[in-house]
Amino acid sequence: MSKPEIYKFFSDYVYEHTGILYKENDYYRLDSRFNTLIKTFELKDVDELYQLYVQKITPSMHTALIDLCTNNETYFMRDLKPFKAFAKEGVEHLKETFPSAIKYKIWSAASSTGQEPYSLLMSLDSFGDNVDLTKFTIDASDISTEALAKAKKALYSGLEVQRGLPANLLIKYFEQVEENWQLSDQIRNKVSFREFNLLTGKFPLNEYHIVFCRNVLIYQAMENKKKILANICDSLKPGGLMFMGAGESLIGVDIPMKQMELGKAFCYIKEK
Ligand SMILES: C[S@@+](CC[C@H](N)C(=O)[O-])C[C@H]1O[C@@H](n2cnc3c(N)ncnc32)[C@H](O)[C@@H]1O
Repeated sequence: MSKPEIYKFFSDYVYEHTGILYKENDYYRLDSRFNTLIKTFELKDVDELYQLYVQKITPSMHTALIDLCTNNETYFMRDLKPFKAFAKEGVEHLKETFPSAIKYKIWSAASSTGQEPYSLLMSLDSFGDNVDLTKFTIDASDISTEALAKAKKALYSGLEVQRGLPANLLIKYFEQVEENWQLSDQIRNKVSFREFNLLTGKFPLNEYHIVFCRNVLIYQAMENKKKILANICDSLKPGGLMFMGAGESLIGVDIPMKQMELGKAFCYIKEK
């Protein structure tokens, strides 16, 4: 089999199962992933890898490939403004819009290694005005089992905590364990993580007050992006808010949500 055909086989598989698009000029980015898989399955070369996958893809082969082909780049308090706005004006919005809510349900819909949902809780606790954390439940999900396993451990390297996390929050919420940093149980135990594929998962209806869906749809083709956003919209309660990544928007997507300024950030509100 020629190399372009092998690339096409793997990129088609990844696209079908995740919606992540490796275009022809991105194919070279698969090489390092192939090398990792070759080592994992103790193979000789990419031809053997292809032969293995083309015969039968077992669940562990599937997981290994998907884990490698997702980009799990994330960091604490990414872009900061949405987290501050969420903790202050976002909480005000929730109180006004849902006055009888017993709990506010938040969903971090592509949580990667956990920095986003943990940042949400640290923000509520540190940037909010006496926010009662017991009023919030945070669900977090991702397609990558490897990212989820790391998220659940909540143990981060020095480099990871230095990216984005203000020093006072590091001291307040983390304990140093040898060269790593362990997040306190007070924050860690409040997030429930699960595996969820945004492309194929069954979305709950009318469930969430706020969804963070950041820096994941940029890797999706427009038709998938539209489908996922329509499902997220259905998952939100009317009046609920959705936060996207800094470079992301609803341009070209026809769903009943409007852009809204929230403190110093922007988000989208689901029409009532
Ligand atoms: C770049 S990270 C963004 C993490 C975080 N939201 C942030 O903004 O820092 C993108 C995450 O989306 C996940 N992902 C990619 N495709 C997905 C899909 N179809 N369903 C669920 N998660 C997906 C990846 O595994 C990865 O962890």
